[in-house]
This record gives sequence, C-alpha cells and structure tokens, in this order.
Amino acid sequence: MEGERRQKEKGGGKGGGRRGGKGRGMQEWEKGKGRVEGEGSKRSAECDSPLPLRKFPRRGGESSLISPDFEKRKLPGMAGGTYDLVVFGATGYTGQFVAEEVARIADKNPDLKFAYAGRSKEKLEKTLMMARANTKLELADVPLITADVSDEESLLSMANQAKVVINCVGPYRFYGEKVVKACIEGGADHVDISGEPQYLETMQLKYAKEAEEKGVHIVGACGFDSVPADLGTLFLQDSFEGDVNSVEMVVSLHDESSGNAPINFTTMECAIHGLAHSSELKTIRKDLFSTQLPKPCFKPEPRGKLFFSEEAGRWCLPNMASDRSVVMRSQRCNFELEKRRPVQFSAFFGISSLSTAIFGIVFGVLFYVMASISFTRSLLLKYPEFFTFGLFSRKGPKREDLVNMKFCVTLTGKGWEKKIEDPEQQHTDPPTVSKTVTVVGPDPGYFGTATIVSQCALTVLQEKDKLPKSGGVFPPGAAFVKTTLRSRLEDNGISFKVKE
Ligand SMILES: NC(=O)c1ccc[n+]([C@@H]2O[C@H](COP(=O)([O-])OP(=O)(O)OC[C@H]3O[C@@H](n4cnc5c(N)ncnc54)[C@H](OP(=O)(O)O)[C@@H]3O)[C@@H](O)[C@H]2O)c1
Repeated sequence: MEGERRQKEKGGGKGGGRRGGKGRGMQEWEKGKGRVEGEGSKRSAECDSPLPLRKFPRRGGESSLISPDFEKRKLPGMAGGTYDLVVFGATGYTGQFVAEEVARIADKNPDLKFAYAGRSKEKLEKTLMMARANTKLELADVPLITADVSDEESLLSMANQAKVVINCVGPYRFYGEKVVKACIEGGADHVDISGEPQYLETMQLKYAKEAEEKGVHIVGACGFDSVPADLGTLFLQDSFEGDVNSVEMVVSLHDESSGNAPINFTTMECAIHGLAHSSELKTIRKDLFSTQLPKPCFKPEPRGKLFFSEEAGRWCLPNMASDRSVVMRSQRCNFELEKRRPVQFSAFFGISSLSTAIFGIVFGVLFYVMASISFTRSLLLKYPEFFTFGLFSRKGPKREDLVNMKFCVTLTGKGWEKKIEDPEQQHTDPPTVSKTVTVVGPDPGYFGTATIVSQCALTVLQEKDKLPKSGGVFPPGAAFVKTTLRSRLEDNGISFKVKE
C-alpha cells in the first residue's frame, strides 16, 4: 500500500449531492412509476419550499480546524495521522460524491489535508479525474492510499495516516468490522454511512469499550441513514418547552427531475442481507441493552399498515430502514449519559398518492418474501433491475437525475407543556401538546449523504472535545448532541425547521 502525498491546488467549485438511503425504495415509486396525482396529495409547505442555498463558511487555520483534544487524547504509540480526512471507498458510487464533497470543503479550508483510499490504484486515479471534472478543482496532487479490506496491514497503515476515516465501503456486514478494528488500533476516528442495524449494533456491542480505552470515536449511520431522523428528533425535543412522549417520523421524497434515478445495487444488497438475517438482531439487542429504559405511561397512537398523515401530507407505510434502530440507541445513550428523557419513536415512508402507496405495500411484501428465501434471494441479487421494476440498478443513477430531488423528513412529537426533571419519573396525565419539525435537503442517498457524512467527519475533527466520553461507538444523535453539527448542516443546504 502507499500513501503518496501530493500538493493540493485550489480552484473554484460548487456543491453537489445524490440520493439513496432510507426512504429510497418507496420514494422511488413516487417518481415515475404509476404516480396518480390528486389522490390525497395535500403537501406540506416546508417540504415543497425551495432548498436553502449551500453556504461554505470559512473556518481556516490549523488551530481552529483540529480539536485541541486530538493531541490530548493521543495515547503512546498512536499515529499522528498525516491526513485530517481519508475517504475510504472513494471509488464507489457514493464514495465518489463524498470524495468530491471533501475536496470542496478543503477548497474552503486551505489547511485541511485529505486523501482518497481504495483497493485499486487505477480506480482511485479515475475517481480523482472524475472529481476534478465535477468540482472544477485542480486536485492533481490529492494523495491516494491503497487499502483492501482483505489485507489488514493495509487497513492499519491507512488508519495510521488518518485523523478521521470516512468509510464508504459497503455492505458493512461484510467489510465494515475490519475497518473499525484498524481504526481503533491505528488511533483514527471513524464515521460511516451504514444503514445496516445489525452491523451498527454489533460494532457498538463488540468495540465500545476498546474504542473508549483507545480514545477513538466510531460513529456509524452518518448518512441520510440516519442523521436527519436522529438529529431531527433531538431538534424536536429541544423545540418543546416540556417533555416529549412520542415521535412519529415520515420520510418522503420530492422528485422534480425528468429522468428515472434508480438506487445503486449495493444498497439493495445491504437491504436483502439485512432482511434475511433480521431475526439475529434479537440476540444482539439482548446483550447490548442489559437494562430497560423507563416505561412511559402513554403509548403513541397505534397506526395500521396504511394511514394518511395530516402533518406530512402523505399516505404512510411502515419504514423498515435503520432509523428506528439508530434513534432509539441515541435516545438510550443520551438518557444514560445526559439524563435526557427518551422518546418513543416510530418511522414511516410517505407517499403522495394512495394507489402508489398500495403498490408500495405489495412490492414491500414481495421483496421481503423474496429476500427471506435463499433461492429467490439469489434471483433478486442476480437480476435486481428486473425484480424491482428498475428501482435498483447496478449502474446507479445518472447525476443529472439527482439534481432536482429533495428529501423531506417530517417529525411530529406529542408531549407535555411541563418538564419533569427526573427522566425516570413519568407524567401521569395524557400528552396535550403537539409539534412538528421538518428536515429538508437535496437528494438523500448521494448528494445529501455526501454532505452529511462530510460534515459529521469535520465535526469529529474540529469538536472531538464535545463528543461523549473519551471515545467509544456511538450513533450520530449521541455522538453529536453537544456539537454544532446541526448548524453546519444548515450552512450546507439541509434545513431544520419548526412547522408553524
Ligand atoms: N446512509 C445512506 O443513506 C447511504 C447512502 C448511500 C450509500 N450507502 C451505503 O454505502 C455503501 C456503499 O454504497 P455504494 O452504492 O457506493 O456501493 P459501491 O458503488 O458498490 O461501492 C462500494 C465500495 O466499496 C469498495 N470495496 C468493496 N470491497 C472492498 C474491499 N475488499 N476492500 C476495499 N474496498 C472495497 C469498492 O471498491 P472497488 O471500487 O474497488 O470495487 C467501492 O469503493 C453501501 O453500504 C450503501 O448501503 C448509505
């Protein structure tokens, strides 16, 4: 492996994004496949308003760039990390967007040192060429690090050279653990864009203690899965004067693009293996959560398989993505470490028309059945375009088809006017207050995820002293609860608003 350092040159360049992640499956149907306008398509004003402009705040200077804690927390034998950010898996579909976003950030932060990493030098050269074309930045001398998940030494060498590794190599159930191990050993903090609960929870179970002892922060789910849900829930809790009892989240996609933008195949691979192994989560959770959260006296309103949400202006279906797993772990962590009252959380996909929503349910059931049986699972994996009606593709979406997309996450909280300071004590009167917040951003999976994970990585780099404990494995809502991540995201085109 190698880590050739080259000189960065500066140029111009504008932000970008792409989509994927959580609501993508259901959202996709809305876009081109049998959309029926008019049926229950009352839309939310927040979601339909134009996206906020991307601003690039200047945060120059070495001293402001790196958290003072980086040096303080470095243990004997730990590497210094030549590069502030290393994008691992830069050659992948999503990795390319992340690589470009990091280059844009570095263009505004001249002291930021970054490198791209992947298992093939030639592919990394191509990533670099594409990044130069898409960002219009010179980027000729971005260092390229060769590292392969099947070669642990190469991973350790990469980790030794990094302050923060942005890991875009998935499916994480197959490739993630070795990168986490290498980062802990090499002393590099780590963020990833996994949306796989089993991987995320297993990493927390297996590595939380070791990471803490080593002073390393491992923060998973830093993409569209599941930062809008996790930070949106914290934002909603902070917007309440009193306590929040329950949060109902609806994820929807607004797609004004002319083309059809399928989701890249690897995300489908993650979903299929996740569904096939979902029963294993029970055992992991038994070990991970040895204590019970306090039990609220009032359960949220029960929802069926299909209902209309007035707050989101959408027909809603159950959402099986990773958000619930992530939000509930953050809530638990913030209860244990910060004495914050945990909420009850439920997640749905929002669809604008009733007929598409019904089609979505049928598709979801068929997908689940096919993913559960080994023979049909292999058919799904072999012919993704055919069996998903073009929803997933091995080529990924065209960039131009991502540009006019927008995600909208609507979170409605029910709670009380008053706070009871002790989160162990329960309200005995029913919740009377309701509040809705929205999180709106560009196409979720690619442009959106690239923005989100890059800002998470920068936050770790610049605000490590505000992250929990000396290190550990955390979901984003626990890792970033005391940081400025939300305002960083707002500065970069992802809005958090209280719905009036
Ligand atoms: N959180 C979110 O909202 C969100 C959004 C988008 C994607 N994702 C997740 O991100 C992951 C990547 O998705 P994608 O669509 O970008 O997939 P992809 O295009 O298939 O990219 C996979 C990357 O992993 C690399 N890789 C595979 N095996 C490797 C190995 N043994 N050693 C080193 N690198 C290896 C690939 O390298 P080569 O190029 O050399 O093959 C490539 O760079 C998936 O898990 C996906 O679910 C999450």
